This record gives sequence, C-alpha cells and structure tokens, in this order.
Amino acid sequence: MNIAAVPDPANHERLLIIDFGSQVTQLIARRLRELNVYCEIHPFQNVTDAFLEEFAPKAVILSGGPASVVHDGSPRPPESVFTRGVPVLGICYGQQVMMEMLGGKVEGGKISGGGGTAEFGRAFVEPSGGGGLGLLDGWFTDGPEQVWMSHGDHVSRLAPGFEVYGVSPNAPYAITADLSRRFFAVQFHPEVHHTPRGAKLYENFVGLAGFTGDWTMGAYREQAIDAIRAQVGDKRVICALSGGVDSSVAAALLHEAVGDQLTCVFVDHGLLRLDEGVEVVEMFRDHMNLHVIHAEEQELFLGELDGVSDPETKRKIIGRLFIDVFQKYATRIGGAEFLAQGTLYPDVIESVSFSGGPSVTIKSHHNVGGLPEKMGMTLVEPLRELFKDEVRALGRELGLPDHFIARHPFPGPGLAIRCPGEITRAKLDILRQADAVYIDQIRKHGLYDEIWQAFVAILPVRTVGVMGDGRTYDFACALRAVTSVDGMTADYYPFSHEFLGETATRIINEVPGINRVTYDITSKPPGTIEWE
Ligand code: XMP
Repeated sequence: MNIAAVPDPANHERLLIIDFGSQVTQLIARRLRELNVYCEIHPFQNVTDAFLEEFAPKAVILSGGPASVVHDGSPRPPESVFTRGVPVLGICYGQQVMMEMLGGKVEGGKISGGGGTAEFGRAFVEPSGGGGLGLLDGWFTDGPEQVWMSHGDHVSRLAPGFEVYGVSPNAPYAITADLSRRFFAVQFHPEVHHTPRGAKLYENFVGLAGFTGDWTMGAYREQAIDAIRAQVGDKRVICALSGGVDSSVAAALLHEAVGDQLTCVFVDHGLLRLDEGVEVVEMFRDHMNLHVIHAEEQELFLGELDGVSDPETKRKIIGRLFIDVFQKYATRIGGAEFLAQGTLYPDVIESVSFSGGPSVTIKSHHNVGGLPEKMGMTLVEPLRELFKDEVRALGRELGLPDHFIARHPFPGPGLAIRCPGEITRAKLDILRQADAVYIDQIRKHGLYDEIWQAFVAILPVRTVGVMGDGRTYDFACALRAVTSVDGMTADYYPFSHEFLGETATRIINEVPGINRVTYDITSKPPGTIEWE
C-alpha cells in the first residue's frame, strides 16, 4: 500500500519533537502548529543520526516521559541532537535527559529537602538569577507563574554552562538555560492548560530559533493540491464520504485537485441522524458540484443488525457491510486506482506504539480499514499532516460552509453504538427524534460550539411514568455532552440545571416512546465518549 499526496514538509521550516512517551506530547505539537510552525513527533527509537541529518530540524524539543533517567537503558536522544547547533528545549523527562547527557546529575525517587522532590500538580514558579532570558518574555509580569508539574525524578546538579532562571518551592531548577548554546530546559509542562502562559513560552522558543511561521492553511492547500495531482495523475479516485468533517474536507480538496476524476460514495446505513443523508448529499452534489453516489442501503444494514446486541459484533457487521457496499458501487462506476481517506495526524501518531507492544483494543473503529488491500487500491491521504482544528481551517479555505465545518464528530457505525442492546427500527426512530430535540436545545442556548460532541443514547430499559392521568411504560434515554481537544480524553459538559430540566421536558413531550431522561456525567477515562 502506498501513502502519499501530502505536501512536502521539506519546503517548510521544521521542528522535531522527540517523544519519550509523555501523555501530552501531542499537545506540544498543537501549540506549535497554532504558531504556524511545522513540526513532527517521532518516537525516540526512530531518531538516529541519519534521521536527524535528513530531517534537518531548525529546532528540537525533547518531550516528557514515564521513564527514569537514572535507570540503565532509559531512553536517550542521539548525542548529535546537541551538536547540530540548533536550539533544544527539554521538558520534564526531556530536561533530565538533557542534564544527564550534558554532564549534570539527576536523582530518582521522592527525596525531600535541598535537591527537590517529586511533584504532581499545580506549582508556582518565580524568577531567579539575573533574568534577561528571551524564553521568558511576557512571563512574571503579574508575579509568579502557575505551572503544571508531573515528575518523580529531579535534576540535582546542572550541566556545565547552564544557569537557573526560575524556581518553584520544590524545583530549584524549574527553568534553566545555556544561552551560548541556546539550550533550554524546564521541569514543568508548558503545553498543558494548567500552565496558563505556556503557549507564550513556546512562542518565545520558536522566535529565538528563528522560525518565521510559514505553515499556513493557504500554503498547505496549494501544496496539497500539487501533491495530489502528482500522485494521482489522470487516474480515478474514489472517496467514502461520511458527512463528517474529515472526509468532507478531503473530498473538497481532492475535487479541487482532480475535478471529475473523483467520485464520492456516501453510504446510508440507516444509522444516520435525522435528515442527515439528504443534507450531506445536497450539499456536496448541489452546492459543491461533486459527483456523489447516495448508496441507500438501509435495508441491508438494518436487516443484518436485527436482533444483534453485542457491541463488537455490531461494529464488525457494519464494517464488513460497509466494505461490501463500497466495493459494489466502486465496481459499478468501473473501479478506481486510488482511494481517498481523511486520516488525520493524531491517527498516524497513535498507530506508532511507544513500547513496540500491542495495545489493548477498547473498540474496533472500522471506517474503511481493509479496503485498499482488498481492492488493490492505493491510498490518498491528503490530511495526514493535520490536526482537527487545522482540518477545519482548511475546510474554510476551501469554501465549506461554517455550520458544516463546525459539526460535532459522528462515528462511522452511527446510531448503532448509541443504541445499547438490540437495534430495532422503532428504537432508531425514537433516538433520531430525541437527538434532534437535544441538538436543537443546545443550538438555541448557544452552546453548540463549546461542546466537542453531544448526542442522545437510547437505553435498553423501559421505565414507568405518568403523563396526564395515564401510566406510561417507555424507554429511558441518556444525554451525553463532552468537551475535548481530540476525543482521546473528555470531560462531561457542565450544563445548568435549568437547561437539563427544560431539555428533559421537551424530549418527553415531543418524542413519543421516551418517558425518562438522564444526563451522563462520566469523563473519559474511565468512560468512553460513545456508549458502545
Ligand atoms: P470513544 O467512544 O472511543 O470515541 O471515546 C472517541 C471518538 O471517536 C468516535 N468514534 C468513532 N469514529 N468510527 C469513527 O469514525 C468508529 O468506529 C468510532 N467509534 C467512536 C466517537 O464518536 C468520538 O468522537
């Protein structure tokens, strides 16, 4: 399988993030992309001298990580990171590994007193030493800065050439730097929200490194189009359009690049939201002039799902049928050599296992996995370099309407995974209506854009109620709304009681078949966003 059609990042100033396995490394990349700096995350195992030579970073960031520098065999970057003459910023484990490799000392464990202690959580850093560190421009203007600490080990002796510029009660070396070599090292995590001025620190770092901020969506669009044309030539491309933001933006970009060589297949599996099928097809076919096949396969999917209640079985059935249906329509149009997918950068990073070992399958995401091998097609993945917010920006560049771009993510298996227990057409109809009322409420209250994803799940229980003078025995449903940056972790949205009460009343009054409404207040982890 071939993967190409992404702009050549060699045309941009590039920053390398060497990943030592921190949970928040992706956030470093997001902060940098927000500054229009092109960066890539690579696990430390892959970063060799040859890799560095070829990547030619203008600056390097060493991420945090769970390992302990004092242990034998703990992860290291190659020595040449420090001899290339480029600025280096070490964060948490990155700071420790830097000190250790450059002649300082790190101590493990929870030691109190002089050298510092293990610290997890909020801390306040004060300036120290002579000041004048460009990295800290805009810091300490209102007193100490709040930072987020998360470390067991600590630096107990600085490497030669380094000086201290910031201290916290438990971290005498919270901010250090060797100005002559442009090496910077911080004990805390500037990339997380709990370090409110952390973004400024990254801005200062890339400024010191001489980045001009050449990574814009306008530039990306032009280069992506050239790259797609170079890859595809005059061959045909098909794209599975889900109506979600990623596949929509991929389709719009491909259309701009290769016009009528692109055919989109929109599979309606009967598990879409109210009016969704018609809306998606109208928008792409009528407003954007794309060639879209509306595959109405509700009977096939709902027939096979009838009576199935196990979540993984549902996903497997939907995945298999999706491939069959897609293949059927692809054959009907005479086949294609290329398959376009809206794979994003977080999907690419997640597929690199840090430990090299297999990770546990929580849920099998299906999308169109397996298709290219089966059909002998080559993948075109023009969004492989982008984060979700960048995809949205690109969508705007391409003229997709705002209300479409801002839509909440919707899973490939659709309402099937919001209908725990047996799937029936009657339950799906009730769910569609309840979901429409809920989303209408959220929009009316101006909350839609504050929420990452909101939906209703219909529960496999009936409960007793009383409406008017009569007894009811109908389904209960759960409202879900979460905030998130990437869907990997999530917090439930803190609706007001008034909002929840009003929404429950509307759903029970307007949706026959539901007589009880609950609100799901589980975060992820330990929950997941979807119910199955
Ligand atoms: P979970 O439920 O795993 O969901 O916390 C995280 C995000 O992924 C979406 N999701 C899917 N998207 N195919 C998709 O395209 C799938 O099989 C799938 N399962 C979950 C979910 O809606 C949320 O945004």
